[in-house]
Amino acid sequence: MNMFKKIKRLKLLEPSLGVIGLFFATVSVIFCFFYLDYRAVAKGLQFSTQSERLLWSKFDGSSESKKVEYLSEEGSGCDVFEGDWVWDENYPLYQSRDCRFLDDGFRCSENGRPDLFYTKWRWQPKDCNLPRFDAKMMLEKLQNKRLVFVGDSIGRNQWESILCMLSSAVPNKSAIYEVNGLPITKHKGFLVFKFEEYNCTVEYYRAPFLVLQSRPPPGTSSSKIKTTLKLDQMDWSSLKWRDADVLVFNTGHWWNYEKTIRGGCYFQEGAEVNMEMKVDGAYRRSIETVVDWIHRQVNHSKTQVFFRTYAPVHFRGGDWRTGGHCHSETLPELGSSLVSSHTWSRWSVFLDVLSDHSNVSDGKALEVLNVTHMTSRRKDGHSSVYYLGPKVGPAPLHRQDCSHWCLPGVPDAWNELLYALFLNREATRS
Ligand SMILES: *[C@@H]1O[C@H](CO)[C@@H](O)[C@H](O)[C@H]1NC(C)=O
Ligand SMILES: *[C@@H]1O[C@H](CO)[C@@H](O)[C@H](O)[C@H]1NC(C)=O
Ligand SMILES: *[C@@H]1O[C@H](CO)[C@@H](O)[C@H](O)[C@H]1NC(C)=O
Ligand SMILES: *[C@@H]1O[C@H](CO)[C@@H](O)[C@H](O)[C@H]1NC(C)=O
Ligand SMILES: *[C@@H]1O[C@H](CO)[C@@H](O)[C@H](O)[C@H]1NC(C)=O
Repeated sequence: MNMFKKIKRLKLLEPSLGVIGLFFATVSVIFCFFYLDYRAVAKGLQFSTQSERLLWSKFDGSSESKKVEYLSEEGSGCDVFEGDWVWDENYPLYQSRDCRFLDDGFRCSENGRPDLFYTKWRWQPKDCNLPRFDAKMMLEKLQNKRLVFVGDSIGRNQWESILCMLSSAVPNKSAIYEVNGLPITKHKGFLVFKFEEYNCTVEYYRAPFLVLQSRPPPGTSSSKIKTTLKLDQMDWSSLKWRDADVLVFNTGHWWNYEKTIRGGCYFQEGAEVNMEMKVDGAYRRSIETVVDWIHRQVNHSKTQVFFRTYAPVHFRGGDWRTGGHCHSETLPELGSSLVSSHTWSRWSVFLDVLSDHSNVSDGKALEVLNVTHMTSRRKDGHSSVYYLGPKVGPAPLHRQDCSHWCLPGVPDAWNELLYALFLNREATRS
């Protein structure tokens, strides 16, 4: 009531009040221009897992230094997959134009993407600090070893990222080459890049289902069946990578109706093709086969096995066939509202199968790169319309790629986690 009375009295002063108001509005706008340049905005942003609120905090790095180091004794139990994306001017770790090992599809900036914000985010675990990525250190630890990625094109995305990250420490680029002389543009089969100085290879095997896809069994009557996925057998290439020193698996993006049954690819167990089996059930069976194979066929004193969990897609207003888009995203998401239930089901089936297997072995057989949650917030990181190569220019708006990731970008963060877990094991070994 008091306020109301005061306002009434002030009414007499109305004209001058208008002038003062305008003055303050102008000052505020000018003030904003000074303070809201992108760095100030970005430095002030922190994304909190718990509250999923925007925090205007004075992020200056000092909060980090209080955390324990992941590789120290106190940090060893830290869950590195829980944390925040924080702005860091020291990123990215490399430039795409300096890296020969990138498909055109991932060179977003060179393909015309105007903003660079997506290259500037570092993953900060909640309870510890990750070691800063040191390419030379990793190459030294990989001396005489094989680092192998097996999976779909998102696995390839991650493999190309680590090639760029590692090659930044090698001045003589001709000392890194594909052992069979194949170009990076080859998308079938496998590619093996050798870092000559370190006698180490970084390899990628395309196996989007991880289990074996092949011709239907002889005597199959139905002409609908073009191929089958043998849910109880690993991909043929497993013989080639079973003895690798580090194995990084991923799968999920091909486990849908369009890429299987609609194309005449049905599911087989033993000699039996099961025409009724749904994709979700088949996916679970395949994961069981993979986890079981890892437990039984891999020499765990030699090979460190990682399974990277499903990387979310971020289509808004449709999906990859129906004009879904993500091209206007320039900042990470605070929550993960754009992530489909498909993503979470792919993620949880994997964890389910894993926990079913956890009592059969020492539990160390396999380490999970649990990236689904952290990645779900990076709707800004996809290739969107910038995947066609520098000469072609952006793709039409209704043909967007919101599955793959720009490089440098989000897969670099997965590889920094891989680096941390790899060093951790190396440390406990020695
Ligand atoms: C994976 O990470 C999420 C988010 O940090 C966490 O809630 C979940 O428990 C983790 N799962 C495993 C198996 O580590
Ligand atoms: C190079 O590494 C391979 C394993 O990847 C090993 O078999 C071979 O002996 C190594 N060569 C030398 C010269 O150390
Ligand atoms: C770079 O590596 C290539 C291939 O191993 C080698 O032939 C060449 O001599 C190296 N150049 C320098 C400057 O070391
Ligand atoms: C497993 O790997 C270790 C270390 O490389 C090796 O000493 C051992 O012989 C291997 N075991 C088998 C069964 O191949
Ligand atoms: C693992 O646990 C499941 C259910 O919890 C049980 O049925 C199974 O027998 C256990 N396997 C082993 C090898 O202990």
